[in-house]
Amino acid sequence: MNVYDSIFQRRTIRKFTQEPVGKDILTKLVDCARVAAYGANMQPLKFAIIDDKAELEAIYPLTKWAGALADGAPREGERPTAYIAVLCDKGIRPNGAAEVEAGAAVTTMMLEAVELGLGTCWLGAIQRKEIKDTLRLPESLDVLYLLAIGYPAQKSRMVDIKDGNVKYFESPDGTINVPKRSLDEVLIKR
Ligand SMILES: Cc1cc2nc3c(=O)[nH]c(=O)nc-3n(C[C@H](O)[C@H](O)[C@H](O)COP(=O)(O)O)c2cc1C
Repeated sequence: MNVYDSIFQRRTIRKFTQEPVGKDILTKLVDCARVAAYGANMQPLKFAIIDDKAELEAIYPLTKWAGALADGAPREGERPTAYIAVLCDKGIRPNGAAEVEAGAAVTTMMLEAVELGLGTCWLGAIQRKEIKDTLRLPESLDVLYLLAIGYPAQKSRMVDIKDGNVKYFESPDGTINVPKRSLDEVLIKR
């Protein structure tokens, strides 16, 4: 798969089969994030793989899913089989501000995940302090984001935006529809 196809095929997936994702694959995703672009090449991010059953169960209640849907959160049997926690090392970036770097790192992992046949959901609506405690992370590591990962058990597609409404919605067959602004709208004519 080329990068362009990965970019256009990637959609947020919130329901997963329960087939485990191998540790080698999860480690490969972290390796991709490791070589992303970093401001001043500081590389303040660290990553934690969460794929142990007890930890997965402890983490799920600390996450929120699909704010735009009435019933979009994964039920038991549909939940991610792994998460990668994106952490800021305050020993490298003392104020913990690495949002932009986290964005580049998460995107890099999401695109490689598509190539590997995986679905992902970038999670920002999370209880950071509780996740830090659950993972027993040292004080120097702050939780920025989780990337939920698993083999997809849901279809999602892009649709044209109507009446400026950006709210994603579910079709009767369970497919998620994600309105994207058109190239004409986002490319400023000059
Ligand atoms: C910074 C950020 C935080 C997000 N947080 C959540 C979240 O907490 N829960 C969730 O279900 N989706 C979350 N998402 C996924 C978005 O809802 C999703 O990217 C958006 O609806 C567009 O869909 P697409 O990724 O398929 O293009 C987040 C995305 C980003 C970029």
